[in-house]
Amino acid sequence: MKKTWWKEAVVYQVYWRSFYDTDGDGYGDLEGVIQKLDYIKELGVDVIWLNPIYGSPDVDNGYDISDYRSVMAKAGTMDTFDRLLKEVHARGMKLIMDLVVNHTSDQHPWFIESRSSKDNPKRDYYIWRKEPNNWRSYFTPSTWEYDETTGEYYFHSFATQQPDLNWENPKVREEVYDMMRFWLDKGIDGFRMDVINLLAKQAGFPDAENPEDISYLGNNPGIHEYLGEMHDKVLKHYDVFTVGEIPFVTPEDGLLYVGEDRGELNTLFHFEVCDYMAYWDMAKFKDIQKRWYEGMWGKGWNSQFLNNHDHTRLVTRFGNDKEYRVQSAKLFATMLHTLPGMPYIYQGEEIGMTGVRFDSIDDYNDIAMKNKYKEEVEKGRDPKEVFESLLHLSRDNSRTPVQWDDSDNAGFTSGTPWIKVNPNYKQINVADALADPDSVFYYYKKLIQLRKKHQVMVYGSYEPILEDHPQIYAYIREFEGEKWLVVLNVSDQSVTCELPESVSSEIKELIIANYADQSNGFNLNPYEARVYRLK
Ligand code: GLC
Repeated sequence: MKKTWWKEAVVYQVYWRSFYDTDGDGYGDLEGVIQKLDYIKELGVDVIWLNPIYGSPDVDNGYDISDYRSVMAKAGTMDTFDRLLKEVHARGMKLIMDLVVNHTSDQHPWFIESRSSKDNPKRDYYIWRKEPNNWRSYFTPSTWEYDETTGEYYFHSFATQQPDLNWENPKVREEVYDMMRFWLDKGIDGFRMDVINLLAKQAGFPDAENPEDISYLGNNPGIHEYLGEMHDKVLKHYDVFTVGEIPFVTPEDGLLYVGEDRGELNTLFHFEVCDYMAYWDMAKFKDIQKRWYEGMWGKGWNSQFLNNHDHTRLVTRFGNDKEYRVQSAKLFATMLHTLPGMPYIYQGEEIGMTGVRFDSIDDYNDIAMKNKYKEEVEKGRDPKEVFESLLHLSRDNSRTPVQWDDSDNAGFTSGTPWIKVNPNYKQINVADALADPDSVFYYYKKLIQLRKKHQVMVYGSYEPILEDHPQIYAYIREFEGEKWLVVLNVSDQSVTCELPESVSSEIKELIIANYADQSNGFNLNPYEARVYRLK
């Protein structure tokens, strides 16, 4: 298998608006990221992924872009961005940016022109039809919005304020490639590509048999031509790394995007865990890991992530954010760093931050949640019941500000935060984590250091054992004579782990564990995690 710098890298995601505010406007900013770079460096990560910073009316937190070549005022200025990039590089880290080119904002000058008349030269930058079909979008009941000016409907995969670009139009593609070069020429190190498999649309927009299954939005004919072209015209001329956000894919389809012989993307995020596993499901998770390993290994590279700005924090969703918060945070950290694929850490995960539960829909900001709430209540459902049903997976669970210390607003801002701080900041914060050698933070740091020293964590083969066990997830990784065993009790019950004799007889030494004492043999505590070197 070809070794590359990015396969060996650990990525830290900075959702800047909730990271650190330096000007008191209640939003984190790029200056705040600069001021906390030493903290990120201390953790030991290699790459920072920065969520969209571009000019935007901000209806979907920056994923609705009105100017691809400017920095939105809330985030700062282009000068601050340039300084940030320099400071990241000065610390030996890399910076990747979000690339959002499936859609723009409806305030983008292209769309303002496009909607102005049917014969405007920018009309074909977007997708216009006389009649809608029956598809639904991610955030609304229809992918089509009627526009009075010209009496036609435009297509949007997300909010109505996020019209989809028409990738069939070569001019659109050239504009995007040019814009990518603008950022790459500044020296950024790559892109995280927002819903990149949605660029190509189904010819003719046929009605769907089941409109609720929105997978018709992705993986359509033409997508690989676009990505191949993007690679040839732009990406291959730079030493950069790309990760595609690719919902609705099997490992087989995934390889078409990231196969090492394909000339498209380097890696992907698939969503079999985060979109289809609302709660921890051992059998499902084992099956997902196995299929993706078998489908991709040796041919293309995978990613591992258990939460991000769209998905509820992992201790709340998959672990236990009450009595076993620290143990379960460390257990999932162990999993993240020892499974095949690049680990992605989402800000705050490294101190075991939890999801939130605000009292009223008015305390929430997430457009996906708010639109769904409105849609269901308008159907006549009980508002309270709808609210309750949306809490667990609301994207705001992971968007509350990073908890820096126990001062007002968790030390995030001196103003009024754009979204409320999680009230548990007095118990969970960075200052405490840095002062406690046994914290979740130092456990992540140790795992990252181990990864730098032991390539078995990166390039090792993956062999699951105890495959039918409902509580224990265990696997062996092996590379160039180095063989590691990972044993995880993913539950809040103690359990006795009966390892096969062939494995237990090979145990040589403990490498890392989240409980101090192993004298109890293989009677594992709730959320206990251990990694051993085997003979
Ligand atoms: C991606 C982003 C999400 C955004 C959506 C539309 O899924 O991660 O935050 O709302 O794309 O751009």
